[in-house]
Amino acid sequence: MAHKKIKILVVDDELSIRESLGGWLQQDGFDVDAAANGLEALSKTQENHYDIMLIDVKMPEMDGLTLLKKLKENEPDTAVVMMTAHGAIQDAVDAMRLGAYDYLLKPFDLEELSLTIDKLVRLQTLAMENLILKDRMATLTRFENLVGQSPPMLRLFETILDVAQSDATVLITGETGTGKELVARAIHAQSPRCYGPFIAINCGAFTENLLESELFGHEKGAFTDAKFTKKGRLEMANAGTLFLDEVGDISMKMQIDLLRVLETREFTRVGGTVTLQSDFRVIAATHRDLQEAIREKTFRQDLFYRLNVILLQVPPLRERQEDIPLLAQHFLRRYATETNKKIDSIHPEALEAMKKYSWPGNVRELENAIERAVVVEKGRQIKLADLPFVAAAGEQVEPGKLSLEEMERQHIARILAAEGGNISSTAKVLGINRTTLYHKIKKYGLSP
Ligand SMILES: Nc1ncnc2c1ncn2[C@@H]1O[C@H](COP(=O)(O)OP(=O)(O)OP(=O)(O)O)[C@@H](O)[C@H]1O
Ligand SMILES: [Mg+2]
Repeated sequence: MAHKKIKILVVDDELSIRESLGGWLQQDGFDVDAAANGLEALSKTQENHYDIMLIDVKMPEMDGLTLLKKLKENEPDTAVVMMTAHGAIQDAVDAMRLGAYDYLLKPFDLEELSLTIDKLVRLQTLAMENLILKDRMATLTRFENLVGQSPPMLRLFETILDVAQSDATVLITGETGTGKELVARAIHAQSPRCYGPFIAINCGAFTENLLESELFGHEKGAFTDAKFTKKGRLEMANAGTLFLDEVGDISMKMQIDLLRVLETREFTRVGGTVTLQSDFRVIAATHRDLQEAIREKTFRQDLFYRLNVILLQVPPLRERQEDIPLLAQHFLRRYATETNKKIDSIHPEALEAMKKYSWPGNVRELENAIERAVVVEKGRQIKLADLPFVAAAGEQVEPGKLSLEEMERQHIARILAAEGGNISSTAKVLGINRTTLYHKIKKYGLSP
């Protein structure tokens, strides 16, 4: 194990303990330092950063609990293990409440000591990774807000740069919340069309008639509500990029109309007679499996070929765990700034749980989780307890500790899974309508 970099401070007023503990840890390859009381320990932290501190509770000058409190404020990245005598278990409990990572009972059981340290080292390695990531973040956010450093994301960045230079139509696929829209914006921003508009339209959000008039525009009097002539998005996207989001949700009839436009870049407004032209680049996105939709005859193959000139697949978050700490830090910074809070780090345990979690709602779910955590956290560090869903997926969190919102989310996720992702039947089981369910699914970053 890479112990070399791990720095441990042993704080105990008894010389024999400092020497014996220090000796063992040194033999294990750690960089060990010692202090005889809290004050001395604090002054040492002025010059050194310790990854781990082993702290005795009862000491003259400044006792262990006072030291722990000060460390939580000044050195939140240091993992603290309290050392306490048998029979003084209340001290240990107090220490845990104050944020100690663990406690050891004196006299020491060597095996227990090394187990505890091993676990901490694992977590501290993660924490260090995270610090390094913080530094690298600036260089890694190459496309403004698109964060990633995993091999698939780095490949995606390369492709974005390549694709941006051409005018070819791009189809972006990926599960909900993976960042498809951000990718589309990045392509636009890197392209020669960046000075033109980026016009997005969520094709799944409109009825057939509305989508038609949104895309093509309409003339005054074309239908009852058409009191004015309105430009469509195709016109607005002139000299820029048209982002057709949820393109898999378009009706069969609109697919024919869209195909024609993509072939000619010519169209007429609803109720109009004049043929209009617009010069736009098309980027489409969908979370659906279009191949399957073609087999099921709900999506036209010819339209698919039109759109699928260049295919970009955004991988789900669970397939790029390396991005999780980076993304978490990115969102933490955003939401801490937004809410004016001084939270600047994430406890290694919370990070580890986040890496283990499967994130069915992908980056959006991670973003929501961090946003919530920032709201509930009172200290300076995001902790495991701030992430009840993530924790619940690994080890069971006491239901009594969950907020109503959290209970609701878990319940919806469970029923949704049990109903095989079917919105109608899930809504029925839950006794709410489909629109409400959609809102909740979006809000909680769940995946249908
Ligand atoms: N790589 C990333 N770096 C930073 N933020 C990201 C990244 N990927 C996604 N996000 C954020 O996650 C949220 C969801 O991203 P986006 O809307 O692009 O996903 P989507 O794939 O279009 O989802 P849906 O299919 O549900 O429409 C957004 O708030 C976005 O800013
Ligand atoms: Mg989207």
